[in-house]
Amino acid sequence: MTSEPTTALTAETGLAALATENRRFEPPADLAANANVKADVYDAASTDRLAFWEEQARRLQWEKPWTTALDWEPPFAKWFVGGELNVAVNCVDRHVAAGNGDRVAIHWEGEPEGDRRSITYTELQADVCRAANALTELGVEAGDRVMIYLPMIPEAVVAMLACARIGAPHSVVFGGFSAQALTDRITDADARLVITSDGGYRRGAAAALKPAVDEAADRCPSVQKVLVVRRTGQDVAWNDERDVWWHDVVDRQPDVHEARSFDSEQPLFLLYTSGTTGKPKGILHTSGGYLTQTSWSHNAVFDLKPETDVYWCTADIGWVTGHSYVVYGPLANGATQVMYEGTPDAGGKDRWWSIVERYGVSLLYTAPTAIRTFMKWGDELPAAHDLSTLRVLGSVGEPINPEAWIWYRRVIGGDRCPIVDTWWQTETGAMMIAPLPGVTSTKPGSAMGPLPGISVDVVNGEGTSVGEVGGGYLTLDEPWPAMLRGIWNDEERYRETYWSKFPGRYFAGDGAKWDDDHVLWLLGRVDDVMNVSGHRISTTEVESALVSHPSVAEAAVVGAADPTTGQAIVAFVTPKGSVADDVSSGDAFAQELRNHVAKEIGPIAKPRQILITPELPKTRSGKIMRRLLRDVAEHRELGDVTTLADPTVVNAINDKMGSSSSAED
Ligand code: WT7
Repeated sequence: MTSEPTTALTAETGLAALATENRRFEPPADLAANANVKADVYDAASTDRLAFWEEQARRLQWEKPWTTALDWEPPFAKWFVGGELNVAVNCVDRHVAAGNGDRVAIHWEGEPEGDRRSITYTELQADVCRAANALTELGVEAGDRVMIYLPMIPEAVVAMLACARIGAPHSVVFGGFSAQALTDRITDADARLVITSDGGYRRGAAAALKPAVDEAADRCPSVQKVLVVRRTGQDVAWNDERDVWWHDVVDRQPDVHEARSFDSEQPLFLLYTSGTTGKPKGILHTSGGYLTQTSWSHNAVFDLKPETDVYWCTADIGWVTGHSYVVYGPLANGATQVMYEGTPDAGGKDRWWSIVERYGVSLLYTAPTAIRTFMKWGDELPAAHDLSTLRVLGSVGEPINPEAWIWYRRVIGGDRCPIVDTWWQTETGAMMIAPLPGVTSTKPGSAMGPLPGISVDVVNGEGTSVGEVGGGYLTLDEPWPAMLRGIWNDEERYRETYWSKFPGRYFAGDGAKWDDDHVLWLLGRVDDVMNVSGHRISTTEVESALVSHPSVAEAAVVGAADPTTGQAIVAFVTPKGSVADDVSSGDAFAQELRNHVAKEIGPIAKPRQILITPELPKTRSGKIMRRLLRDVAEHRELGDVTTLADPTVVNAINDKMGSSSSAED
């Protein structure tokens, strides 16, 4: 943990929620009566947690049974020890074998209007087999890392499952990350194959993806082949030695593939996420425990009825939500789901609601930032569509403010659908804190409490439990099946980041509070990690990108509250002496810096606002006071300035902030 938290434990979201809302919504009677899981599940799980998880693991198909449920040598866990399974077989083949091959697995909708494909489980099985055969032909073996850099197209799911089928861990990189970010991740993972496409459709136009891969592959000697899906038909540069077309290599493969089984702890994927330092961490997930918890939670928290429900998770596969609740959880459950390639306003700001209507979506899973955007766009857009098929509405990625929660329930859910606010992380692999829609009553803005089989404890700064009521740091004090198994190639960082602040407990990085009813409220990050539109970005990473610009002497970055995106990135930059005079107006230089950050990390990390300042506020020992910069960025009265070396510095910044403007894109 770095020294000075940028987010105070008393984050406004949680406290305002507590002050203004104490209303409860009960589960709808029909849903409660037919719910997949009933109230007794909590008791069963707390009576014998391991027996509970073993029962859930038996929902999967194992080729060899496990001998021990859990082997726990803190902080290293092994689940379902000795067991063997194939994750892809569990997600695809067994549904075909059970006679459900004609069920649609994916209703895919491309961004250009009318671009649609529905893929049954039988078709998905053939696709995954062909891709698995192709990967083998390209020299990929069990244990090799495969990078995936694709838009939201069915091939992305097929590629992930093909990797899983042959035991080659994938590492998906979100298409919004830059060539540099991709290079760093390929290098860390030491990947031999990259799967990409010429591009994808976003915001009404074809965007390119392959140029970033070309640049990264040139710099990464480990990359032997690049497998390219043709999606948009745009021109691409071609390297005959390295590049192969998906339609050339995959399409001609046999559509059968004998899957071997792998150990329960076989690595399934690495997913890079931001921590409190500049270097992203490769979070490692394995097979049996991960699939057990993702599929169980998906079944329980959405009350999934695979024969009749149509499920839609709007997350990109580049994030953990896309891994656990687009690919592994829903497919392991044999669900029918919608997958959409583009932006919410492509073809009209009611695009999502026309998708819900067209496919009869019954379970929707999305992020608060999207909900707040739709609130801004107005009630008329959803009102113009038939949303009566919806049954359960999920939220994930950041705290949901009570206003957005109520709007989601009323306008999208017709005042009848329960809202399930689900707290979890890339590291937890699966949902940890959430209500059960047929069991738990809900309070607007709260994720309510830990799921069955999960143990949460809120502790004070000394690591002492606050008990049934009170606020502090969120910790997990028992291992769980989908927990990360480590940080790729960095055991020390794994111990240090998650297990050292409160020895013996997993520290999530979030503040939390039990209210008087012993209901849990998540209060946001307490470290240097920002949450922008549900995306995790570290302040240090953006600072490093800024200071890598030749004209920047120093930079400080803070996450400031933002009504739509939750937090927004605000940067304070001191230029180098020689350019300081030319940049007094700041606007053009600030724009150049924003583009520089986009190039270094990706457009998602572009600061909303950059303030050019001759100096940054520092303590007498030279430490930048980010707490004060946050006050400035959030237009608050400045906190205690007495420890500053020169208090006039921050006053000058504050005056300048008052007269500056933010970028729109
Ligand atoms: C961080 C994890 C979980 C998948 C997407 C994000 C915040 C996530 C909630 C929620 C309040 C939430 C936390 C957490 N977060 N869900 N329902 N309520 N905060 O995964 O990128 O690993 O980010 O997102 O701060 O630590 P991630």
